[in-house]
This record gives sequence, structure tokens and C-alpha cells, in this order.
Amino acid sequence: MARLLILEYPDPRLGLAAAPVTEVDDEIRTLVSDMLETMYVASGIGLAATQVNVLKRVLVIDMSETRNEPYCLINPEIVFAEGKISTEEGCLSVPEVYDYVERAERIKVEFLDRNGEPAELEAEELLAVCVQHEIDHLDGKLFVDYLSELKRQRLKKKALKKTRRTPSEATRSRQSTSARLI
Ligand code: NI
Repeated sequence: MARLLILEYPDPRLGLAAAPVTEVDDEIRTLVSDMLETMYVASGIGLAATQVNVLKRVLVIDMSETRNEPYCLINPEIVFAEGKISTEEGCLSVPEVYDYVERAERIKVEFLDRNGEPAELEAEELLAVCVQHEIDHLDGKLFVDYLSELKRQRLKKKALKKTRRTPSEATRSRQSTSARLI
């Protein structure tokens, strides 16, 4: 397994749409393993391939405290959505920014698993939010795109100005909110 570099806002590559996977082969399975390792090391609960500069429709999620219950969704499609939920979101590609986004509360998503077999998942609340956030990544969309133009401009300016963060600063700000990185 290898740790991959996570692109950070405002990197324009985060705005590119990923292409469907045509065959779930060893290359895809290696990508999934590498993405899981990268997500675990970064203390995130979700990661999309777009975030590691691979334009394939692959995402991984693990919301368990024990960090050993991964979901791997290839070519995910939301086939059902209902309700509304507003959650404070954070993103591994948008460090130190947290804000509320409204999404569907319950969804059903169809996808291919690691073996290329069709599968489906019914999700609600945070897991549903996480799946929607990651599918947005695959479409080249970030959670900050839901914020007001003014807020977004301010964030962009701040991100461009930022030179280097020390790890202790990053840890401090991460602990200042209960939002998890997805
Ligand atoms: Ni994200």
C-alpha cells in the first residue's frame, strides 16, 4: 500500500469530473487500498479518487471508531433520496474550513464492489451525507461550492495566502470542531 498526496483547494484539478471505471481489475483494487491507507493516515472518514488526482469514479468511506469497517464504492449512483439534513462538514481537501451543508437525509446508492459485483447500500444521516459529499468530489464539486459567493471568495483568498501550516496548528484547528473530515 502507498500513501497518496491529497490535493487541496483551490487546486483546479479538484474541479474535474471523474470517468466511470470500465473494469474492476487489480489496478483499481490497488487504488482502493492506497486510498484507504491515505484516508486512515489523514484521519478522514471518506475519500474520493479525484482528491488524489485519479479521475476514476471510486470512493472509500469508513465511519467506524475502530477504523476497520471500510466501504468501497465504484461507479456509485444515487437511485433514491429523501428528507433533508444539515450537517457541519469538513473536507481533507479543504483544510481548516467547516460549514453547514444541506443534503438528503436518506439515500440508496448502487455501485460495484471491489470484486466488480453490483451492490447497493441504504444510508442515512452522516453516512448518507458522506456518500453525497464523496460523489460530489467525483463530479468535481466541493462542499464549499454550496456556500455563498462571498464566503467562498474569502476562503479562496485565505487558502492562496496560506504558505505553510505547522502540524500542531493543523491539529489544533481540527480539534476545535466536532465535524469529521469527509
Ligand atoms: Ni471532501
